[in-house]
Amino acid sequence: MPSDLAATATRDISGALNALLADIFALYLKTKNFHWHMSGPHFRDDHLLLDEQADQIFAMTDVVAERVRKIGHVTLHSMGEISRLQRVLDNDAVFVTPQDMLAELREDNGTLARRMREAHAMIEAGGDVAASSILEVYIDEAERRAWFLYESSHRATQLMRPGGIFMRSREAASRAYSGDLRPN
Ligand SMILES: [Fe+2]
Repeated sequence: MPSDLAATATRDISGALNALLADIFALYLKTKNFHWHMSGPHFRDDHLLLDEQADQIFAMTDVVAERVRKIGHVTLHSMGEISRLQRVLDNDAVFVTPQDMLAELREDNGTLARRMREAHAMIEAGGDVAASSILEVYIDEAERRAWFLYESSHRATQLMRPGGIFMRSREAASRAYSGDLRPN
């Protein structure tokens, strides 16, 4: 064993990291899928946003896999192994609206952040300070991606009020369409 961490702890930590790694690969490919198949009035922004996010997601893979090796365990070997471990659901639909793409990725990144937080608690208890610290940065990045996706997916329902204030919710937009401009 290259690490002096307890063997039982490293087994559990490796299991958690490998499951996260499968999710990260699945989310990487879904983000690229939506980057390739994006459409709509904000094509350029959305297409470029998803490419930036895919690069950030892909950059996690080597670090997570090598953390598993550093603590003496084996990591993922194949696409088949990824598909058996991934919890992120694939989306093979021929057409997905841009709003649905952004909303689905926002959800997936939020879920990934939550799963990393859960793994972090266990990893910290197991004493793997380095893996904890790696995940802390990745949790922040996933939350940043979710934030950008959230704000971008609300763009379609933004309306400028006469006073110059943006309204963001569908409810606010429909009130404005029906002529009701009470403060919300
Ligand atoms: Fe591209």
